[in-house]
Amino acid sequence: MIIHGNAVVYLEDMKTTCQERIQNDSVDLSVTSPPYMVEKAYERGMEWPEYLDLLWTAYEEIYRVTKPGGYFVINFGDQARGKALRGTETHTTIPMSVFHWDAGTGFGFELQATRIWRKKFHKMGIPFVCNHYPRPVYDYEHIWTWRKGDGVGKEKVHDRKLSQRGVLEFKGDHPLKRYRSAFPIGLPEWAISVYSDPGDLVYDPFAGSGTTGLAALRLGRRFVGSEIDVELEPLIREVLVT
Ligand SMILES: C[S@@+](CC[C@H](N)C(=O)[O-])C[C@H]1O[C@@H](n2cnc3c(N)ncnc32)[C@H](O)[C@@H]1O
Repeated sequence: MIIHGNAVVYLEDMKTTCQERIQNDSVDLSVTSPPYMVEKAYERGMEWPEYLDLLWTAYEEIYRVTKPGGYFVINFGDQARGKALRGTETHTTIPMSVFHWDAGTGFGFELQATRIWRKKFHKMGIPFVCNHYPRPVYDYEHIWTWRKGDGVGKEKVHDRKLSQRGVLEFKGDHPLKRYRSAFPIGLPEWAISVYSDPGDLVYDPFAGSGTTGLAALRLGRRFVGSEIDVELEPLIREVLVT
């Protein structure tokens, strides 16, 4: 476990954190980027059904711990890709939006907004070819906002200027520029500013290097994270004190 100020990160499966450490209906906002199933090191050996199970578990657990009226902002890749998807030697890709829609609505979330994050082109690597078979790379990702409605009325959205944009671009890199799967600090800063208040509880079930935790601390929120890879502990510690 890592504790820094109002942030705590548990080095364990997100299901354990949700079931054993976070009370039901207590989280104001979750912000996360789950594994994308694109053959990253932390996905190796994972089969497609197992991946879908992880996605559904994440939506189920996050729904349960979210306050009525609370939000869940998820950043995900447009396609899953790899040989494991169909259990064959053929490389394939699967569009992910419908799986997210299915899981989110399946557990009761209301879909509030779908946005595109336009990534920095020069960060994509050279040569960069969109839709290049068999390893497509995309210069955009999805950012969806879910809400645990439960009959709760008016939406809490703080910055109309920020929230009305359909295509987002984020300033700032990962604070330490050392973790390839990290999102830029501007992404969780945007989500936290728009969908929560100072003092609120923010959760990241797939904390990675702890970028959401740092954004939450900078913006005066409380933070809980889960990260299954214990080897990330030193990096998370470094990020949180940045
Ligand atoms: C896309 S990365 C998140 C990166 C993060 N947003 C950042 O800025 O550093 C996904 C992370 O989820 C972690 N992970 C995978 N399965 C998990 C699980 N069941 N519970 C908790 N973390 C998990 C992986 O180890 C990986 O670090």
